[in-house]
Amino acid sequence: MSIEPVDIDSITNAALSAISAASSLDELKEVRIAHVGDRSAIARANQALGQIPIEERAARGKLIGSARANINQAFDDREKVLTKERDTKALTEERVDVTLPTNRKRRGALHPLTILSNEIADLFIGIGYTVQEGPELESSWLNFDALNIPADHPARTMQDTFFINPPDSGLVLRTHTSPVQIRTMLEHEPPIYVICPGRTYRADELDATHTPVFNQVEGLVIDKGITMAHLKGTLDFFASKIFGADVTTRIRPSYFPFTEPSAEVDFFYNGRWIEWGGCGMVNPRVLQACGIDTKTYSGFAFGMGLERTLMVRHGITDMHDIVEGDIRFSQQFGVGLR
Ligand code: PHE
Repeated sequence: MSIEPVDIDSITNAALSAISAASSLDELKEVRIAHVGDRSAIARANQALGQIPIEERAARGKLIGSARANINQAFDDREKVLTKERDTKALTEERVDVTLPTNRKRRGALHPLTILSNEIADLFIGIGYTVQEGPELESSWLNFDALNIPADHPARTMQDTFFINPPDSGLVLRTHTSPVQIRTMLEHEPPIYVICPGRTYRADELDATHTPVFNQVEGLVIDKGITMAHLKGTLDFFASKIFGADVTTRIRPSYFPFTEPSAEVDFFYNGRWIEWGGCGMVNPRVLQACGIDTKTYSGFAFGMGLERTLMVRHGITDMHDIVEGDIRFSQQFGVGLR
């Protein structure tokens, strides 16, 4: 058996100096076991109370009790200090600098034209239309003849066509999305409510406002009793959804072989009228070419350029930005996840 230290002051001093020397919570835990645990000197002094003369017992008991209280208090104080130190250390050492550049891979972004095209499809789907697509390499019959543009018709020269070799291939890069109207009418019985977005081609030089590869969106409705009022209402709906609730359209007389009457559609934006596209009532000759009974059905069609729509809506002044594919341009429009 070890020699019992009996001097309570020296027991206390030993405990207090061990507590203040503990430099971590783990160390402090060990100090506690050693100096206040069941086998500590103070605990043993307490246990030994029974062996001392009864008249000394109360005074000694009091001494031991207050020594224990002092040691426990010192322990609690030290624990608070060490806990705070540990937390402060963790906060500084584990600090995350959110302004540091990351090395994560850049996330891709949908091209703004794709985002716009999806947006247009969604808003027409919302009023009961379906989306129709057709090939970019198109038969010239669908691109021209069925749309009432015969080979010798001056209207063929309205569009600078990319023809496909050999000259009698009967194929062109579609000059507009209107052949998708024909495809739809040949394949589906009225009523027809479709929107046809897609890429189109014309032999233009790329400059600030032109591109040989561009996008159109075509609308086609064939039903009983369709009038120009329905066309105008649909254009107003379209413009207000794309450019803002208070934006309206106007239509001006024009000419397209596949519509009669035909019109240009403008929209009023930022205090001025801006040309948007073409429209009109589907020419009965076109309906006939597709086997649709013109006594029962009539319809309207419209077509506009997506690039122009995007440029006006977002104040883009150079077509190059749209076609060059710099991801920094696309990212300004958001990721547009679908
Ligand atoms: N296809 C015409 C063009 O590209 C636009 C248009 C579509 C006009 C539908 C009338 C109806 O110029």
